[in-house]
Amino acid sequence: MKKKTILVTGVAGMIGSELLTRLIKNNKNFIIGIDNFTLGKKSNIKEYFKQKNFIFFNIDLSKKIQNKKLSKLLKKKKLDEIWHLAANSDIKSGILNSEIDYKNTFMTTYYILNFIKKNLKYKSKIIFTSSSAVFGDVKKMINENMPALYSCSNYGSMKLASEAMLSSFSYLNNVKSFIFRLPNVVGEKLTHGVIFDLSNKIKNKKRKYLQVLGNGKQRKPYSHGSEIVDCMLYVKNHMHKSFVNYYNIGNNDKGVEVNKIVELLVEKFNYKKKIKFEKKNSGWKGDVPKYSYSTKKINQLGYKFSLSSLDAIKKTISELEK
Ligand SMILES: NC(=O)c1ccc[n+]([C@@H]2O[C@H](COP(=O)([O-])OP(=O)(O)OC[C@H]3O[C@@H](n4cnc5c(N)ncnc54)[C@H](O)[C@@H]3O)[C@@H](O)[C@H]2O)c1
Repeated sequence: MKKKTILVTGVAGMIGSELLTRLIKNNKNFIIGIDNFTLGKKSNIKEYFKQKNFIFFNIDLSKKIQNKKLSKLLKKKKLDEIWHLAANSDIKSGILNSEIDYKNTFMTTYYILNFIKKNLKYKSKIIFTSSSAVFGDVKKMINENMPALYSCSNYGSMKLASEAMLSSFSYLNNVKSFIFRLPNVVGEKLTHGVIFDLSNKIKNKKRKYLQVLGNGKQRKPYSHGSEIVDCMLYVKNHMHKSFVNYYNIGNNDKGVEVNKIVELLVEKFNYKKKIKFEKKNSGWKGDVPKYSYSTKKINQLGYKFSLSSLDAIKKTISELEK
């Protein structure tokens, strides 16, 4: 059987490197990985550098792509799948500086789509990792039919703009795309988020106390990166008639409070210093302190997450280095 050619952007990130591990197995695919290590790490993918069915390019996708070696390679190999994962995943940093999401969340989408245009097949598939952040702070159960109009972060807005760009691109170029709106994703190779922030603060011996952002009552659903990858692969392999297919993926449980995460981390690291909470409901302006997801659409396709939000958090904390 001919190998599939698959392009993965953001391959050195938490989810990208997990995806690479799956795609590279059994030698059935040829994988082209792109990252510029803004947040991802070389150590996440280094073990695959010598494999013949993987080639890596260090490219900043927020600029026009002008890489001769990659262009030459794509002249010989048309793309079966494009997984576009490169983005600024650290929502807070994008609120402090809006250029971060404009460049790394939106322009990466714009430039990668323009670059691959001539290298598509009739049945190419584009898989895009969007986010629950496109919905904003809606204060009710989120399902795919709800309009994503109330984003309250630059990240959410730039993901939404990317979704729109992908929609017209799919229609104009006759390709199928999958827009997966991910919840909070955790896992061993975290690059951002509450566990990353708090565990780094705990490990920093110079800090006199542990500062928690917000009052600790923020409650969100979490999923483990390994299950997120399983779910995307499962859904993508089903028959889809539409050009653009939207899915909320993740758990539909009540989520986990930040307080519980603090408790588990304190136990893991045997942390004895003082813990300080803020008075405000959210960690920062633009954060969505509480949300819940309807996952009916993936469940109807037969996919169910086996790890609850709490299981995903516990698994991630157990994977952290002391
Ligand atoms: N982790 C989550 O909680 C979560 C939730 C919703 C959506 N997502 C989305 O899933 C995808 C993967 O997330 P992740 O958790 O693995 O994050 P991550 O930060 O670990 O991975 C993103 C990767 O993109 C790369 N990247 C960023 N800007 C780039 C640029 N200009 N050029 C080339 N590479 C660039 C980074 O270096 C990083 O390796 C992202 O699109 C993210 O927005 C993640």
